[in-house]
Amino acid sequence: MNEGDDEPLLLTPGPLTTSRTVRNAMLRDWGSRDPAFIDMTARVRGRIADLAHAAETHVCVPIQGSGTFAVEATIGTVVPRDGKILVLINGEYGRRIAHIAEIIGRAHVVLETDEDVPPTAEAVAAALAEDPSITHVVLVHCETTSGILNPLEEIAEVVARAKRFLIVDAMSSFAILPIDARRVRFAALAASSNKGIEGTPGLGFAIVANDVIGSCAGNAPSLSLDLADQHRGFEANGQWRFTPPTHVVAALDRALDELAEEGGIEARFARYRANCDILVEGMRAMGFRTFLSDNLQAPTIVTFHMPRDPKWDFGRFYGLMRERGFIIYPGKLTRKDSFRIGCMGRLSATDMRRALDAVRSSLSAMGLAHQVSPHRE
Ligand SMILES: Cc1ncc(COP(=O)(O)O)c(C=O)c1O
Repeated sequence: MNEGDDEPLLLTPGPLTTSRTVRNAMLRDWGSRDPAFIDMTARVRGRIADLAHAAETHVCVPIQGSGTFAVEATIGTVVPRDGKILVLINGEYGRRIAHIAEIIGRAHVVLETDEDVPPTAEAVAAALAEDPSITHVVLVHCETTSGILNPLEEIAEVVARAKRFLIVDAMSSFAILPIDARRVRFAALAASSNKGIEGTPGLGFAIVANDVIGSCAGNAPSLSLDLADQHRGFEANGQWRFTPPTHVVAALDRALDELAEEGGIEARFARYRANCDILVEGMRAMGFRTFLSDNLQAPTIVTFHMPRDPKWDFGRFYGLMRERGFIIYPGKLTRKDSFRIGCMGRLSATDMRRALDAVRSSLSAMGLAHQVSPHRE
């Protein structure tokens, strides 16, 4: 979709392909204390909260850094020092959350399922009933390790019913799947500039409930990753406490324009859904098998089993795809040998069809005659 570019398209979990106009928005320097930049920050914060229909109930607190910075800042700020977290794990990013809890010294227990099995609301309800000392549940909405979609609404309901707080890692779902704070109760949600919103990387943000942000001063074990303090700074004078990634904020502002121009989250979801369907259908026609069944697959990134054919060599395949203008991604699954092809970012149906042509010709160059043999389990 990068009209006129000869740069490769990123078919990865992130960073993602962005539009030329979003990248062009970075070609200006901004004074971080200048009213124009202060206005831009306020505008971006408001628009992000609006995407979750959360303007009345929550605040958007941006934080410098990648998505992990936002997740770590959210957990460290929102969970009190004597709190206890239930981490729902079915992939790498869930495991990272447990690791964060360990490093910042928050008591935690995990509920782990296989990488192709979502946690159920019943299992979460049972874990909460069994351990009254759990104060917070953390869920990865779309686990980008595999591309699996976890049941946010059902889990939010049981967490609210049990009067605990829910924190959502919505990195790979925000601005792609609808998340409506009027219906789904969450204390905080973390995401970043460079996934569904299609900004450039370098900025994370949390959407935190007003009553939560108002009561979590002093929780954070870090100065720079303290969302309560960051929020206080914005409320005081509209400014960032420390040097903001000004160019990234400008690109994000532009990316939010383009999201609205496209028709909002519904239209973005439809484009990614179509991309995903084209990819899965085309790859299956060549003999590849998906790791997830279709009902669990989020339209973000698709995990494929490595083929069993002795001529298959992922390193070579990666290089051939790269020569043809597409950057794909090795697998991250713990138990299955796999690779991933993303379908989010500034990618069109035409890009996905061209990517399939590149897969076909790469297979041919490897002597695989356009059809791989059955996958390796
Ligand atoms: C679900 C999820 N959580 C967290 C992260 C971490 O984000 P980052 O790599 O930007 O730190 C990612 C990145 O892909 C992700 O997909």
